[in-house]
Amino acid sequence: MAKKILVTGGAGYIGSHTVMQLLLAGFSVSVVDNLDNSSEASLERVAELAGDCGKNMTFHKIDLRDRDALKKLFATTKFDAVIHFAGLKAVGESVQKPLLYYNNNIIGTIILLETMAEHGCKKLVFSSSATVYGWPKEVPCTEEFPLCATNPYGRTKLMIEEICRDIQLGDSEWDIVLLRYFNPVGAHPSGFIGEDPRGIPNNLMPFVQQVAVGRRPALTVFGNDYSTKDGTGVRDYIHVVDLADGHIAAVEKLFRSNKTGCDVYNLGTGKGTSVLEMVEAFEKASGKKIPLVMAGRRPGDSETVYASTSKAEKELNWKYVFVSYYYCRAKYGIEEMCRDQWNWASKNPWGYGKPNESADPST
Ligand code: NAD
Ligand code: UFG
Repeated sequence: MAKKILVTGGAGYIGSHTVMQLLLAGFSVSVVDNLDNSSEASLERVAELAGDCGKNMTFHKIDLRDRDALKKLFATTKFDAVIHFAGLKAVGESVQKPLLYYNNNIIGTIILLETMAEHGCKKLVFSSSATVYGWPKEVPCTEEFPLCATNPYGRTKLMIEEICRDIQLGDSEWDIVLLRYFNPVGAHPSGFIGEDPRGIPNNLMPFVQQVAVGRRPALTVFGNDYSTKDGTGVRDYIHVVDLADGHIAAVEKLFRSNKTGCDVYNLGTGKGTSVLEMVEAFEKASGKKIPLVMAGRRPGDSETVYASTSKAEKELNWKYVFVSYYYCRAKYGIEEMCRDQWNWASKNPWGYGKPNESADPST
């Protein structure tokens, strides 16, 4: 019997790519999403792309804070594990609207965890973030580094990590993997699914992509006076399909042993790339010139952040074992990330929508 996985936030960027990889790996998937920052079209495309496996997915438009709706779902399906992506993620918005973030991310998670416990489902993979390393004193960041948060969004990640550690300490039946993502970019190599942020993109690559398709005139580079190779910020960009495969490695680990406890892994490539290097790689992949406007540093940004990947490699077997099912390549580099980002952007310049049905009037 196929294992049944509940994926919260599965209609979103990372969620939809993970649902795709789960289906191809033979899992049965139920997605819960309130579609606050996504569209059901992503899942329709996943179902199509997954071919025969697509029928092993169901979608439930539920807000995690709707306890009754969640209970009903758990009463009808016995889940073997939950992958929990659902949450709000815009750092700037979290500073403006902290209560929205605490309410959605923390309360949503607590209701999910309570419902799981009530129904005897105690295996969880949670989407944490490299944001919990703040401005690290040194790089690469290992999982043992001191943790901090500089904004409400980051604090929700830190608090949920702590909640997970606490519930596992209180009840050893819980098995939890916390995954700290570095910077997910790119799209499925088919160009059929990808990132479609609402409003003005906060992150580098969605912004670059919108400049390339003519939706925005230029990229603003936040800071060129850092102590880095070219003065711009350095990050660890990871292909979203590699990241998705990391989740399969994590659930496989949960099913391999009932003694995971509450463990944490970085998901990154271990390589640092500057903003200008990323733009150059994208220009090469797309053949498009990206006009730049140099500006001051963005408040809260760190200079250089990249991952130590050795724990994930050793214990999740992720880096070496998992390959893209389409291309049989174990690891994507910057070139493939930009190639796939452009493939998605050029085929879907308005994401899942059309120009006249923009999700946000401020776009
Ligand atoms: P996303 O916004 O594309 O996906 C999140 C999904 O959760 C959306 O579909 C949204 O509609 C849904 N959602 C939000 N609140 C909900 C609620 N209360 N009930 C039900 N559904 C809800 O974001 P993403 O980039 O796919 O990120 C997924 C997770 O990974 C998030 O938790 C995010 O904080 C974390 N993360 C993302 C990044 C990144 O750069 N993308 C980096 C580190 C961590
Ligand atoms: N940048 C620009 N111009 C832009 C957007 C970004 O120059 O328009 C620069 C930033 O200053 C930074 C780099 O591009 O140097 C990457 O910025 P992103 O916003 O793409 O990514 P961050 O590393 O700042 O943050 C992202 C998510 C966080 C998450 C973190 C680690 O937004 O939520 O990755 O996973 F916590």
